[in-house]
Amino acid sequence: MEITKAVIPAAGLGTRFLPFTKAVPKEMLPVLNKPAIQYIVEEGINSGISNFFMITSKSKEALANYLDSSPCLDMFLQERGKDKLLDKLNRIIRQANFTYVRQSEPLGLGHAISMARHSIGKEYFGILLPDDLIFGKQPGLDQLIKIARQEKASVIAVQEVPREAVSSYGIIAIKKQITPNLYQVGQLVEKPSQKDAPSTLAIIGRYVLSHKIFESIDEISGSATDEIQLTDAISNMMNNSEKVLAYKIQGQRFDTGTPLGWLKANIHMALQDPDYAPAIKEMLNDLGSININAHVVKPKR
Ligand code: G1P
Repeated sequence: MEITKAVIPAAGLGTRFLPFTKAVPKEMLPVLNKPAIQYIVEEGINSGISNFFMITSKSKEALANYLDSSPCLDMFLQERGKDKLLDKLNRIIRQANFTYVRQSEPLGLGHAISMARHSIGKEYFGILLPDDLIFGKQPGLDQLIKIARQEKASVIAVQEVPREAVSSYGIIAIKKQITPNLYQVGQLVEKPSQKDAPSTLAIIGRYVLSHKIFESIDEISGSATDEIQLTDAISNMMNNSEKVLAYKIQGQRFDTGTPLGWLKANIHMALQDPDYAPAIKEMLNDLGSININAHVVKPKR
C-alpha cells in the first residue's frame, strides 16, 4: 500500500494571529529561520509524500509563490556566490509536486479535505494540519504511514492533553488498546466539554485516511448545521466499517496557530540549533536570575 499523496488544509483566516494575518498567511510565519509551511512540507517529503494538495483561499498567494522556483532570484544569488541560501528550499521544490485548490467559503475542515477528492482517487492519503508542528526523531506523518500500511487501516495521531484543554480538540474514546501507543478507536467527539469528553486523548493534526472519507463527508454534510467537521466524517466512516486506529505520536508538538505556541516553537528550535542555542541559553539564564521582587516597591513603615 503506497501512500504518496497528502492534503494540507491552509485556507483558514488565522484570526488568532491578527493583525499579522491581515496581509500574510499564518503558514508563512517564520519558526527560527524558515516559514512554518516548510517544516510541514519537509515532514511530508521525509515521510514519502511526493504530491501535495494545498487547500488555500484568496489571501494565500504567498504559499504558492514560496513553493515555486524563482529563476531570477537564483541567478542573482549565483552571481554573488550566495546560491547556497536557497539550496534547501529548491531541493524541496524539485522533489515534490504542489497543487493548489481554492476553498472559496470557510465551511470547515471536512469540507476543505473534500476539495482534494478528485486528486486522491482510491488511495489512502495523508493530511497535515499546518498549525501543528511536530519535532522528533521520526517524522510525525511517517509514524502513521507505517502503521496504516501494516494494519491496512486509517490512523489518526493523538496525544494526551490536560482535561481543561479537551474542548479545543477532537477527543477519542478507546475501543481496545493494541500496544502501549496504539488504540482502536471506539468513538470520536469534536471539541467536547470536560464532562462529555470520553478521554483526554486529543487528535493532533496528522491523519492517514482511506479515500472512503470522501463518501462520509458527503453523507454527513446534509445534516451539518454549521461547519463540516472532519472528526464527524471519520466517525461516520467508522460506522460504515472502516477500521480507525489512533497512535500516540512520538515527538514534541507545538500549535503555531497561537502566538504562545509559535513563540514556544521558536525557543524550542533555537535551543536545538548550535548557532543559536548558546545565546538563547544565556538569555534564559539571565532572565531566570532576575529577582522580580527587587523591582517591587515596598510600602514605607
Ligand atoms: C482541528 C480538528 C480537531 C483537532 C485539531 C488539532 O481543530 O478539528 O479535531 O484536534 O485540529 O490541532 P482546529 O484546531 O482546526 O479547530
